[in-house]
Amino acid sequence: MFEFGSSIKNRIIRFLKFANLVLAFLLISLTIYADQYEFLGDYQSHQVNENSVLLQAENNVIKLTVISEAIIRIQVGKENKILDIPSYAVNPSAKQETNWTLNEEKLKLLLTLPEGQVVIHKNPIRLQFLDEKGNEIDADDPGFGHGWDGKEIRVWKKLHPDLKFFGLGEKTGPLDKRGNHWVNWNTDFWAYDDRQDPLYVSIPFLIGLHEGRAYGIFFDNSYRSTYNLGAGNNRLYSFGAEDGEMDYYFIFGPQIKDVISRYTLLTGRMPLPPKWSLGYQQCRWSYYPEYEVLDLAKNFRQRQIPADVIYLDFHHMDEYKVFTWNKERFPDPERMLAELKRMGFKVIPIIDPGIKIEPGYTVHDEGMGGDHFITFQDGQLYQGAVWPGWCYFPDFSKASTREWWGKWYGQMKDQGVSGFWNDMNEPAVWGKELPYPVLFDDEGQKSTIKKMHNVYAHLEAQATYEGLRKHSLNERPFILTRSGWAGTQKYAAKWTGDNIANFKHLRMSVQMCLGLGLSGVPFVGPDIGGFVGSPTPELFARWVQLGVFMPFFRNHTSRGTEDQEPWTFGEHIEEIARGYISLRYQLMPYIYSAFRDCAINGVPMMRPLFLDYQDDEKTYSSEYQYQFLFGENILVAPVVEENRPYKKVYLPEGQWLDKWTEKVHQGKTEVIVDAPLGVLPAFFRVGGFVPNRDRIQYVDEFPLTELIVDVFSGADGEYTLYLDDGLSFDFEKGVFDEIKFEQINQEASLEILSQSSNRQWAKSIKSVVYKIHNVKNAPAEVTVDNYKIKLIEEALVSPKKLQMDLFKYNAEKKICEIKIPFKTGKQVIVLKFEL
Ligand code: GLC
Repeated sequence: MFEFGSSIKNRIIRFLKFANLVLAFLLISLTIYADQYEFLGDYQSHQVNENSVLLQAENNVIKLTVISEAIIRIQVGKENKILDIPSYAVNPSAKQETNWTLNEEKLKLLLTLPEGQVVIHKNPIRLQFLDEKGNEIDADDPGFGHGWDGKEIRVWKKLHPDLKFFGLGEKTGPLDKRGNHWVNWNTDFWAYDDRQDPLYVSIPFLIGLHEGRAYGIFFDNSYRSTYNLGAGNNRLYSFGAEDGEMDYYFIFGPQIKDVISRYTLLTGRMPLPPKWSLGYQQCRWSYYPEYEVLDLAKNFRQRQIPADVIYLDFHHMDEYKVFTWNKERFPDPERMLAELKRMGFKVIPIIDPGIKIEPGYTVHDEGMGGDHFITFQDGQLYQGAVWPGWCYFPDFSKASTREWWGKWYGQMKDQGVSGFWNDMNEPAVWGKELPYPVLFDDEGQKSTIKKMHNVYAHLEAQATYEGLRKHSLNERPFILTRSGWAGTQKYAAKWTGDNIANFKHLRMSVQMCLGLGLSGVPFVGPDIGGFVGSPTPELFARWVQLGVFMPFFRNHTSRGTEDQEPWTFGEHIEEIARGYISLRYQLMPYIYSAFRDCAINGVPMMRPLFLDYQDDEKTYSSEYQYQFLFGENILVAPVVEENRPYKKVYLPEGQWLDKWTEKVHQGKTEVIVDAPLGVLPAFFRVGGFVPNRDRIQYVDEFPLTELIVDVFSGADGEYTLYLDDGLSFDFEKGVFDEIKFEQINQEASLEILSQSSNRQWAKSIKSVVYKIHNVKNAPAEVTVDNYKIKLIEEALVSPKKLQMDLFKYNAEKKICEIKIPFKTGKQVIVLKFEL
């Protein structure tokens, strides 16, 4: 009985143990299962609507929408539904009518656009992108494709062995982003280093380059997103976000330039900025009181160092309250601003989004009254600490708040400031970022910081831009921002935040600005000289030289550092700085035209060589990653190391003329050039033109009466110079001039043609001096519109300036200089040579 009983008991125990094991096994497998990604599964059906195809797969839906002849939008549903959530980046007008077709085969669907094709493999659903010749340019990984794990969404794609990646906005390190894991989450990081990621701006736009063909992917999701570009694996690359929609735009190339151009059509392009914002700008944390600002301005003018802008960091405010003035330091801001204006200076104050909590302070009171501040999810106002102490923060995702905020800029502009500097807009608070669960209006959708964090600065920039447009109807706004999102380029210029005064950061500044340009943000620059710490005289000189060829040119330093104005490093460095800053102004006609080109096509004016020489492998080499093109005709090879009085340069296809020696180099070669402290190696494209002018102290000091055109002869080429008032939107109504130049080189002659429209901007030009380089022999004859002009011996040219209707020839430099009256319409100059 006992034995019998005990064996049953044992069996029961054994059974229970077994059942336990089974249960544990089931639980473990369930947990594993729950932690795995789910995928679309096999194709079931599809439906075509207007410009899109909606596919039903086993586990979800996927929609492909034709946006234009080279762009296709891909959306994966959430629980079988495509949510068409309004985008903060994409311009709805980017959608264009285009011819496309959809063909079904047994195992796939073929969606064909004029510029490429998407193959939709059915079982399981995987996308493959082909160029118009049928070459694969990108494809989902066969094992994965589009998936999700709870709220997280992700897509995995093939990592071709040769694949290179560019873009992703403000990232440190080499331009090719392959091999790393990247995060998009706007972050304020004082004194960041070369491995810091993320930084201030998030732009989930990636350019891929495979077998010489480029494509772009813009992932329109503002949640924290991550990119694995082959980090720790050689099979896949992927991108995804912690929440939100799988919604991305695939952009066909094959030229990188076209990809950028198309991407900026989608998210907006830098509008043509006011011309003064291309001038040299002086900043420090902070210039005050009033006499210090005025002294600074006088110093520039007395020392003949050109400058256009002085910045006021937050000490101009009353207790850090934005849109106020500290009355002790600046008793009469309007008078001071008027005086600076008379000296040709513009002033830009800093604006932080934190509004001091202080009843009686108008911005605070209006914000409270208008319900403009961010709250927690339970309705309580969110308070965060920044410079003024405890603050409220405007909710820019609400149209009424944007309008209210924009109005304040207009009011401050009325006092005489010219532009604005939006800082701390990641948004930064002392705890680094806003906590969960603060809530934003999100145009009525009510969203948390998880979705809104990355677009906060973008919406602030939008509020600022729209406010200023409304206020000064016909004046181009200038806004500088630290943080931003895809598309912020249509509202603001961007500087690269709190860098450090060392050579490593000088190098990083080149990489970061080039990377931003590739990501659609062309108007960029670093704090020249470095923000944290103080530069050595050598570093300062090298950085100013480089800054001349960067789109945004501002010297800035932190509080507590040494003086950093161009004259504070001794006479030699002052002389170098004066020369280079003057050069920036001499080149203004060229630089402004480069900005105009960029405003039209989105292609950055400061760009890596591979943008113009995509098929030249050398241009991707890390050895030459600090070289770049500035506009179409200048190749800049800055010295980026300490104590390096020489530079190894790679010159791509064509011929290149050394700015310093006039020597012409055949392209596709490496050269080593001298680069003592006063020399920034630069080369001109043979066949190109570089229009410039005399020295000026600020952009609008004198109208352009004598145009100088450097012609780099030796190859045929064309160039268009753009001229307008530099300030208004009249150009949109056609009120601008263009002068088109062309050179035709033959053995016995060189012909230079100019064709100009004749509205008022070209009319102000009275004379034009052609400086023709690379002229091997003295011309036997020079005619202008068939009239012969005379040669004058160089020694007789007085006082140093060539008189009208004469030409001279410098045999040593091989430069022929011709001065003639400028004529709108057509003008033909012919140089004849004896053979
Ligand atoms: C931030 C900005 C810096 C500014 C400082 C004080 O650090 O990035 O440029 O000078 O705040 O406003």
